[in-house]
Amino acid sequence: MRSPILDYLDRAIEQTAHVAPGAPADYIPELASADPQRIAVAMSTINGTVYASGDADHHFTIQSISKPFVYAQAIEERGLEDVLARIGVEPSGEAFNELSLDPDTGMPRNPMINAGAIATHALLSHGARPADERILELFSQLAEREIEIDEAVAASEAASAHRNLGLAHLLRAAGALDQEPQDAVDGYIRQCAASVTVRDLALMAATLANGGVQPNTGERLFSRTTTRHLLGVMTSCGMYDAAGDWLTTVGIPAKSGVAGGIVGVLPGQLGIAVFSPGLDAHGNSSRGVAMMQHLSEELHLHLM
Ligand code: DON
Repeated sequence: MRSPILDYLDRAIEQTAHVAPGAPADYIPELASADPQRIAVAMSTINGTVYASGDADHHFTIQSISKPFVYAQAIEERGLEDVLARIGVEPSGEAFNELSLDPDTGMPRNPMINAGAIATHALLSHGARPADERILELFSQLAEREIEIDEAVAASEAASAHRNLGLAHLLRAAGALDQEPQDAVDGYIRQCAASVTVRDLALMAATLANGGVQPNTGERLFSRTTTRHLLGVMTSCGMYDAAGDWLTTVGIPAKSGVAGGIVGVLPGQLGIAVFSPGLDAHGNSSRGVAMMQHLSEELHLHLM
């Protein structure tokens, strides 16, 4: 029998017809050619059942949605204290790629903006295997299938990464980066170029909703404490300088990416993922935000 959840997902897509899609990101040339009419939504329960509608098997790059998962991995590997000594947890109120660090500490303000995410990536650069390889393994465990890098997007971003390189040099000068700036940015760009679908992202988000345990494999990927800490950071910093708007209208921890994906986590219940490549002024998917607002209202997801 068809689940009523699918009707909710279909309606979430239908109601975006009046929302201007916006333009795909063009500072990464390979993303500029994305079709703004593509749209998808998926939802996973904490039992691992995934429901999806629209272009649910279309692949796009994870981009900044990688940041929360890699941050949790860094906490697991290095310990919370070590990570907090390097990267703050306060919202910056600035754009995701702002060239700024906390003037008092010289540290990135949080791990969701690029400065913090480059520093986080570098924290995983130890041991015999490259960080991006171990990160792909984590994404594959979260999504329950082998996740690969979109090499064309990675190369395209690497060829125009001046801003992120600038940030990495600032971090290095402030003593907040142990790695060479070029190496940290190269690895971070590969992390962002992991190729996913909304189904993958819904399962990844459901793992966070499930306290760090992948719902289908039963594998604990993050401790409960790490997961709770991460959800706090996603709540305050995940939507950048639109975090206040998001928290009042949608009201759940979330993270967006410039390829057009957004994930949301309803603790103890659901992982949600939406995709549409056109962006708003904050770099968040315009129709993605509209779908999340619709679902939050229809299904009473708002935590407050
Ligand atoms: O570093 C960048 O600019 C991209 N690889 C990721 C930025 C991003 O996804 C911002 N999110 N909306």
